[in-house]
Amino acid sequence: MHTIEKPLFRLAHISDLHFSKLTWNPFQFCSKRWLGNLNLLLKRKHAFRPDGLTTLFPIFHERKIDAVLITGDLTSTSHEEEFSMAQQFIESLEQEKFKVFTIPGNHDQYTKKAYKKQLFYQFFNTTYALPTDPLTSFSLKEDRLTTVYFGHGWWLIGLDTAIATSLISSNGYFSPELEQKLEKALKETPADHRVILINHFPIFSNESARKSLIRKDALKKQIERFPKIKLFLHGHTHRHCIADLRSSQLPIFLDSGSTAQKEGGTWNLIEITASGCEVEVFKNTNADGYAFWQPIIKSNFRW
Ligand SMILES: [Fe+2]
Ligand SMILES: [Fe+2]
Repeated sequence: MHTIEKPLFRLAHISDLHFSKLTWNPFQFCSKRWLGNLNLLLKRKHAFRPDGLTTLFPIFHERKIDAVLITGDLTSTSHEEEFSMAQQFIESLEQEKFKVFTIPGNHDQYTKKAYKKQLFYQFFNTTYALPTDPLTSFSLKEDRLTTVYFGHGWWLIGLDTAIATSLISSNGYFSPELEQKLEKALKETPADHRVILINHFPIFSNESARKSLIRKDALKKQIERFPKIKLFLHGHTHRHCIADLRSSQLPIFLDSGSTAQKEGGTWNLIEITASGCEVEVFKNTNADGYAFWQPIIKSNFRW
């Protein structure tokens, strides 16, 4: 007889919310923010509706979501008001009793000033580990890496590979220092435990070199050596994707797409069980608002 396996926990993977605030400082003509705002005005303003994201809450309740993972790009130009809007969204999720874990994307370290001031960390408390957690030695802010124990032998490892870049690039950087820290974290998690890795940037993409993660091959090689990494969650591309690369000694890669995209915004519902996981993809099928989040694909994986 077929029995339904009880889920250990359920995650909502959302990304690239791009809260935006248009500002025009004449003294910053042709600065990165100025160009970013021009881009917003020409394209993004029409493409993103982050104010409608609260329509996700009823589905999160109905589907018994335990935690929400946000894989970066909460803002558009790292403006303080954009961070404030994103902060309010996260606080409203927390008021609804969802645990929230987030990492920055390139738009959250958009200007050299935002990077220097570490604005992302001023607005979001990323001290996730509990004092009772077996590993508490990493801090996302200081180490660019955090480990969180979810229980049932499952860990979340979050990476911050966002850096301030030049006017025309949006690279991330997987530094040799971060590689060493990730090595340490992966070795310290018990051998029979499983890991979900989250990073803003993918390690595979067909985008130009100026948009990709620098040293992504080093991260790929490291992931290959740790089969305990079962899932790699990311954003950045604004294109939804599921890629099961386990036959190539790699994990299952999930790109949530941009959840705030006005037409066709997407996100993943991930249900983890002892023997596998189910990924259900939701898409916003209503261009005028956020009334219709429709499940479009369901994929099952066994470990
Ligand atoms: Fe983005
Ligand atoms: Fe991005």
